[in-house]
Amino acid sequence: MNSKKVIIVGATSGMGRELARIYASAGAQVGVTGRRQDLLYTLQTEFPNKIVTECFDVTGHNNIAHLQSLINKLGGLDIFIDCAGIGVVSSELSRDADKLTIDTNINGFAEMVNWVYNYFLLNNVAGQIVNLSSVAAWRGNSWAPAYSASKAFQSVYFEGLAMKAKRNKSNIVITDIQPGFVYTKESQGNKRFWVSSVQKAARQIYKSIEAKKTRAYVSRRWRMVAFVLKWAPNFLYHKVG
Ligand SMILES: NC(=O)c1ccc[n+]([C@@H]2O[C@H](COP(=O)([O-])OP(=O)(O)OC[C@H]3O[C@@H](n4cnc5c(N)ncnc54)[C@H](OP(=O)(O)O)[C@@H]3O)[C@@H](O)[C@H]2O)c1
Repeated sequence: MNSKKVIIVGATSGMGRELARIYASAGAQVGVTGRRQDLLYTLQTEFPNKIVTECFDVTGHNNIAHLQSLINKLGGLDIFIDCAGIGVVSSELSRDADKLTIDTNINGFAEMVNWVYNYFLLNNVAGQIVNLSSVAAWRGNSWAPAYSASKAFQSVYFEGLAMKAKRNKSNIVITDIQPGFVYTKESQGNKRFWVSSVQKAARQIYKSIEAKKTRAYVSRRWRMVAFVLKWAPNFLYHKVG
């Protein structure tokens, strides 16, 4: 029985929604968010005693008020999971696509994570902060420069945060999840290989969170891709990236 209090930002679809189902089935109290109110309600209907909702856009100005409201509804917070991300293929380098990616994956992410870290620290909570970054964090790519840059920001921020948590002698756990391809709305349109189902990805993410890993690749074989991306010389990588 998992009696934790969990917030999942971005749980109207994809991995966030499936993670909410896994946590609620395991007995956790789960606060879920997204912009699509109807999808939040249908999720709540599946687990009426386990799920509470808060509808908001992470690019707006009220992220922290919404998080505080969810924490009040849950009566505390043990695990914060940010799944609210977008990936826009930007063949023509659209400024709108870049801005939306930065507002969502960088500004929204950094505001919420910063606040949750300080909430755990000030309240002496041995909490856990989790983000769904991407294997794309390792290198730039020409199809979606802002996306890979935003994921690099998230993963590097988390590395620093994990170091800070140790330095502060806190019991806060920082978990950077790096999925490869997972079959969701976001992954469509890419040249895909080793695509995981949402269910398989969410199960692996859940296990990695519960094991308090600092970093995990989903599916696990994407660790090899991360290794190749990290070490491939520019003259080779720039032919394909
Ligand atoms: N699928 C993949 O292959 C893949 C690979 C690597 C990394 N990832 C990362 O994994 C995370 C989850 O992606 P997914 O594939 O599960 O995608 P998804 O099905 O598109 O889910 C994304 C979630 O984020 C929420 N969201 C997006 N923009 C938002 C905003 N401005 N305000 C509030 N919520 C917002 C969406 O809710 P609303 O639309 O209701 O707001 C939705 O619940 C993302 O960060 C993504 O970059 C995915």
